[in-house]
Amino acid sequence: MALPASYKAVSCTAPRAPWTTVQVPVRAPAPHEVFIKVHASGICNSDHFVYQGLWPGLSYPRTPGHEVVGRVVSVGEGVPAGRFSEGELVGVGWNGGYCGACSACREGEFWDCEKHPVTGITQDGGHAEYMYVPVNAAVVKLPEEALENTTYAELAPLLCAGLTVFGALASTRYSPGDVCLVQGIGGLGHLAIQYAARMGLKVYATSSGPSKADLARSLGAHEHIDASAVDVAEYMSKLGGAKVVLCTAPSAAAINKVLTAVARGGVITVVGAASDGNIQVSSLLLNLKRATLRGWACGTSVDAEQCVRFSHLAHVKSMVNEYKLEDFAEAYENMVAGGPKFRNVIVFP
Ligand SMILES: NC(=O)c1ccc[n+]([C@@H]2O[C@H](COP(=O)([O-])OP(=O)(O)OC[C@H]3O[C@@H](n4cnc5c(N)ncnc54)[C@H](OP(=O)(O)O)[C@@H]3O)[C@@H](O)[C@H]2O)c1
Ligand SMILES: [Zn+2]
Ligand SMILES: [Zn+2]
Repeated sequence: MALPASYKAVSCTAPRAPWTTVQVPVRAPAPHEVFIKVHASGICNSDHFVYQGLWPGLSYPRTPGHEVVGRVVSVGEGVPAGRFSEGELVGVGWNGGYCGACSACREGEFWDCEKHPVTGITQDGGHAEYMYVPVNAAVVKLPEEALENTTYAELAPLLCAGLTVFGALASTRYSPGDVCLVQGIGGLGHLAIQYAARMGLKVYATSSGPSKADLARSLGAHEHIDASAVDVAEYMSKLGGAKVVLCTAPSAAAINKVLTAVARGGVITVVGAASDGNIQVSSLLLNLKRATLRGWACGTSVDAEQCVRFSHLAHVKSMVNEYKLEDFAEAYENMVAGGPKFRNVIVFP
């Protein structure tokens, strides 16, 4: 493959600085790196950790992007033979690798490595024509069949948005036919509705307004609840509550309003990263309902394989709006304003 001398990448130079585009020189991959030609890179709400400077110890300049689909260009000399080969379809997610030495790693919980390397946050990510990825990060071979009737752009959001909600739902104990409430219909939420419906749950989807009602139903929601007009928790309680509550809204104020929708013995999973304060929950609610409140973070490369496989088998698909790299700032601002239905994705020829 003929390589350019440099490639274009989105760059954030300081918290809340205007997005810029830079030229990054092409170099040989380091011994444990995979060098990838990026084809699509989804803009996750978590990119705001870079823009707002909210990640501890973040250094600039930084290229975000942790929902990446591309093809292998070359591998470092330390990458085990056969692990990745040129031209192979790969995806890259949030998890940026692990140290192998901390107590989490030594317990096999690599996703919680104390160094917390994160793609697009502690190391440069996929909003670029090419990217270098440590081989022990969440970089995963994807089957070519994943591209059947699916574009690179539609595949990319599965690497974070999809993986996160797929794992959160699949790891919750429920019986087929149980009620599930999905709160927040954005990048994560629109995939969560599809997964929950395909997993046999009766899905109620709630938004901060009425505009996504038809889309929510077309994605598999049994019903859409407009939180601006209805007390969602009260509404769900009258139905007996939801065994599975999945909160994707990036807002503690919004999440607090749906916590009491949980049914007896139900599980509330919060995946939204709230930037407006803390979640407040009544101990009585948890006690009397024997309910569980927990969080969930992304997943490993093996989880990504499973998520992509399930999405292919169950026809779960991201709804995307494609943007060029030059239009990144517009795509990002549109995401912050809640515009996308449902994921803005940067695509590369
Ligand atoms: N735990 C993890 O591993 C993980 C992984 C990825 C992302 N995240 C986090 O999950 C959250 C959702 O990410 P996303 O990419 O799906 O975001 P997104 O595409 O921007 O969607 C968020 C949705 O939440 C709803 N919402 C309700 N109240 C809101 C408020 N006050 N401000 C903004 N949105 C509000 C909106 O949907 P309605 O119109 O339906 O109300 C909005 O579309 C973010 O906090 C992100 O950082 C966590
Ligand atoms: Zn993400
Ligand atoms: Zn570690």
